[in-house]
Amino acid sequence: MTNASSLVENQPAPAQSRSPAIEGPLVLKPLRIGNCEIDFPIVQAALSGYSDWPMRVVARSLGAPYTIAEVLIDKFVLELKQRHKTRRHLMVSDEEHPVGGQLMGSDPEQFPAAARKLVEAGFDVIDINFGCPVNTAMGGCRGGYHLSQPKIALEIVARVRDEVPPHLPVSVKMRRGIDDSEESRSNFFQILDGAFDLGAAAITVHGRTVKQKYVGASSWDFLRDVKQHAGDKMIIGSGDVFTAQSCLDMMRYTGVDGVSVARGAIGNPWIFRQARDLAAGQPAFVPDVSEQRRVLGMQRSLCTEIYDDRRVLSTMRKFGIKFAPLHPSYEQVRNAFAAGKTLDAWQAVLDEYYPIGS
Ligand SMILES: Cc1cc2nc3c(=O)[nH]c(=O)nc-3n(C[C@H](O)[C@H](O)[C@H](O)COP(=O)(O)O)c2cc1C
Repeated sequence: MTNASSLVENQPAPAQSRSPAIEGPLVLKPLRIGNCEIDFPIVQAALSGYSDWPMRVVARSLGAPYTIAEVLIDKFVLELKQRHKTRRHLMVSDEEHPVGGQLMGSDPEQFPAAARKLVEAGFDVIDINFGCPVNTAMGGCRGGYHLSQPKIALEIVARVRDEVPPHLPVSVKMRRGIDDSEESRSNFFQILDGAFDLGAAAITVHGRTVKQKYVGASSWDFLRDVKQHAGDKMIIGSGDVFTAQSCLDMMRYTGVDGVSVARGAIGNPWIFRQARDLAAGQPAFVPDVSEQRRVLGMQRSLCTEIYDDRRVLSTMRKFGIKFAPLHPSYEQVRNAFAAGKTLDAWQAVLDEYYPIGS
């Protein structure tokens, strides 16, 4: 999924056509994923190339009530050993519960053992990916490919549900279909209904098709139809939430039970705190430069706990660039982070543009 990272950019939420599903004051209720009670319904999505342990811990510290780790391919999970170099993939720490682990694969028979490993690693929810649109996933009959074969998709859900201990929820992530055809829509609802019947505790729906990848709007109208169809089953909406206000707008417009923040959280982990502020009728928190420094520093120090220096640098360079739009000297900061070739250079950018006491 990493090729999606080139598409990370801040875009406005799409204008949708109908009147909102929720009239009057918007009352946000906790989100329930099976036994997992999540105090606030705006959560952090699985983000390949981003939602590693440091990003998740940062998001949790800033108000995200639940996060999901980067998608892992089932075969890869099965090969993972608890070696220092690879343990980061299965890293779960006390302060991040509840946290979801996500699996993607092609063969229903491979999923259960991989799901068991995620459970043993300490993930509280096992999420199944039926949404990834990248060519390698589609070519390998993984992710979004399953939207074209409801029978196999449901066999995966059934096998994972059977394997995961009953007290732990299994959830599913879907796009709204392979494409805009009627067949695709019908497959979508077959998988959605079938997954709930098999015991899925929540389904996250991204309102783009696989064909769309990240081009064009996520259909909030579709999300609204899905929520109406699903009744009291938990639906989490995804797509085009780039600001705290757009999280609330999605809830109001579609009536979904929760919102999954994806690109909107990359470079703005405060989005969860901001959404909590807005939901409480307060102005949204604006992180000043010193707060930005604190959080970048925190993320770097978390990275050093699990990565070697090379990976700390590549990760923090990427995040530095993503944080830069919040800085008053955006372009200079972005270019300075991009140019840094060592960790000392990265720290020098932090010290120059985010001075202590700023
Ligand atoms: C860089 C990137 C990585 C992603 N990785 C995952 C992933 O690992 N698992 C997943 O279910 N979705 C993944 N997604 C999809 C997002 O969770 C989300 O559904 C999508 O970005 C739409 O939301 P947005 O328009 O608000 O960004 C990824 C998206 C991006 C941009």
